Order: sequence, then structure tokens, then C-alpha cells
Amino acid sequence: MKFPEQWALPHIQAIHPYTPGTQPEGDGWIKLNTNELPYPPSPRVKDAIASELDRLPLYPNPASRPLRSAIAKRFGLDNSQVIIGNGSDDLLNLLMRAFSDGQADALQTFPSYSLYPVLAAIANAKLQSVKFDKGMDLPVDELAQHPARICFLTSPNAPTGVGFSNASIRQLLSRFDGLVVVDEAYADFAEENAVELLKDHPNIVITRTFSKSYGLAGLRVGFALASSETISILDRIRDSYNVNRLSQAGALAAFEDPDYYAEVIRKVIETRERIREALIAAGWEVYPSQSNFLFARPPQKDGISGPERSLSAFEYLNARKILVRHFPSNPLTADYIRISIGTDNQMNRLMESLQSWQSNA
Ligand SMILES: Cc1ncc(COP(=O)(O)O)c(C=O)c1O
Repeated sequence: MKFPEQWALPHIQAIHPYTPGTQPEGDGWIKLNTNELPYPPSPRVKDAIASELDRLPLYPNPASRPLRSAIAKRFGLDNSQVIIGNGSDDLLNLLMRAFSDGQADALQTFPSYSLYPVLAAIANAKLQSVKFDKGMDLPVDELAQHPARICFLTSPNAPTGVGFSNASIRQLLSRFDGLVVVDEAYADFAEENAVELLKDHPNIVITRTFSKSYGLAGLRVGFALASSETISILDRIRDSYNVNRLSQAGALAAFEDPDYYAEVIRKVIETRERIREALIAAGWEVYPSQSNFLFARPPQKDGISGPERSLSAFEYLNARKILVRHFPSNPLTADYIRISIGTDNQMNRLMESLQSWQSNA
């Protein structure tokens, strides 16, 4: 007798699903593990969602038209250069499926967002990886010579927080013979972003999300900016109603409250820099961050360093209901923990716990 698993295509049977950061049950946790915003979204979001509730029997706008137009206007683009997704993961998935398969490879830098390998596996595509060295600068020469059709770049990068300059992205765009996806999930926390490169480079796609800087991870809304030709391909293969009515309304209300978000983002960056300095003063090695998290390596103690020490910090915090992220499976990431930026109170609790860990553990 056959089981459903055996009817699935062989490459689908072999997939290891993406492991999202823990969403803990129960109260009292300080959640610094999935780079969510520690502040509420714009107060306008609630009203916008409430006013859609009476219209739930009706399908949403299939192309998320009002949100597309607002985003296009803000970035000085044509409406045809914007697409909205059910989170930016939805758009990354469409990009992988449209531009790679068993015959056409995809390319990524490593380490970066750990969803890309899962999306490549679903598309049955080979995902080539170019590794960063410890400096985490963009390896333009190595990427440019790859024969892949599509290259995924996270900028600012995850989990390091390091941003890449437009000068280096521009070089890659000029030399790489394929589409370059710049995943800018964290760009609102950065000094630079790649939007100006859209003018001269038809092979760039920029993806953004409402999950981080807009505090709307629960709504699942993202968008992509690209040439009209690229957007038209993604529009052909997306679900016809890929973003629900409440999400469209909530995201639009948030997008139209830039003053609120300027203040929230300023606060996150201020806290990020304060905590980075405090960690460095306590002997930690911390990458300069252009995002809403810090990638930090604890100092050695009693001759113990590396993965053992970062795991010890992770477990000590976890036992005190402070969740951070640890990536033990690769030597480039195993020595570090990734800490999302929370409120000042949350971060003070984190620093107190880390101080007691350094003195006692
Ligand atoms: C680099 C990167 N891209 C995309 C996403 C997912 O964004 P969304 O919630 O819009 O699917 C994340 C979430 O952690 C991320 O780190």
C-alpha cells in the first residue's frame, strides 16, 4: 500500500521545513528572538482594520491596488513597479519559483536569511552559496562570476546586521548576468538603501516587509519594487487574492503615518547603539548593525570561548525567560547570539542577566 508521502515528488519528500524562531506560550517572556518591533503599530491601524470588518463577505482588492499606489508614490515609481505579498516571504517564494528550477541555479551569500534554501528546495533548484569571510563584506567578484539566474542578498544582512554599500551592490548589478534580489527587510533601520539603484538597473528587485519596522508581523504584508517587466512576471504567478482585506487596510494605514514610525525607528536605533556600546564595554565582540538586532560574541572565560560560551549565554537567558537566537550549525555563526532590540526596560533586563552570567557562569 502507498502512502501520501510516497506520491509527493522526490524533491518535496526531501524538504526540511524552515524553522521559525520560537513563539513562546505563556506570559513573562522577553522576546528578543525574531526581530519584531517592541512597540505597538500606529494607532491608525486598529481603526482601519475595524472599518473593514463589515466588508468581510467581499473579496479583497486582488492586486492590493490602494497600497501599491501609495508605495509607488512614496518611492517615486510607477504603480507597475510595485507588488504586494502575503509577507515578503511570499514574494521571495515567487521569485525563486519564477527564476530557478532543476536547470537554472539560484545563488545566495552565506550566512544570510535561512529561508532561501527552503524556497530553493521547493523549486527543486540548486542553491549555490558564496561564503562571507569574517569581515562580512559583500563578495562581489565571486558572486558576479556565478552562472545562476537569480541571486539573493540580504541587506542589511541577517543574522549579522551588517549593511552593504550601494557602491558594492551597484557593481554586482552591473556584472551579474541575472536578477539580483536585495532583501531589505531591515532597511528602515539602516543609513542607506538600494531604492535609487532601480533607476539604472533593470535586474534589481528590492523586497521590503511590514513585519519589522511597522510592527505588523501578525498581518503578513510585504512588497517588492522592481522593473515593470519583473513585477508583471510575479503578478502572473501569485495567488489572485494573496493579501487579505484586513491586512491591506492595516498596512496602508501604517504606511500613511510616517511621523509615528520615524519616532519609533529613531528610538530603536538609539537603544541599539546604547546596548552595542555596553556589550563592547563588557568585552563582547559586536558587528556594527544597520538593523534592529545585534550579532554579538561573548568574551571568553576560564579559557572557554566559541560555541560553548555562546550556547551557555543563550541557555542562561532562556532559563530567565529571555529569548534570543543562536545559530550553532555553522562556524561563522556558532560563536554568536543574535539579540533583537526591545524596549529600554527589556534591554536593561537583558544586560542585568548577561552581567550576572558573566560573573557567575
Ligand atoms: C531577511 C529577512 N527577509 C524576510 C523576512 C520575512 O519577512 P515577512 O515577515 O515579510 O515574510 C525576514 C524575517 O525574519 C528576514 O529576516
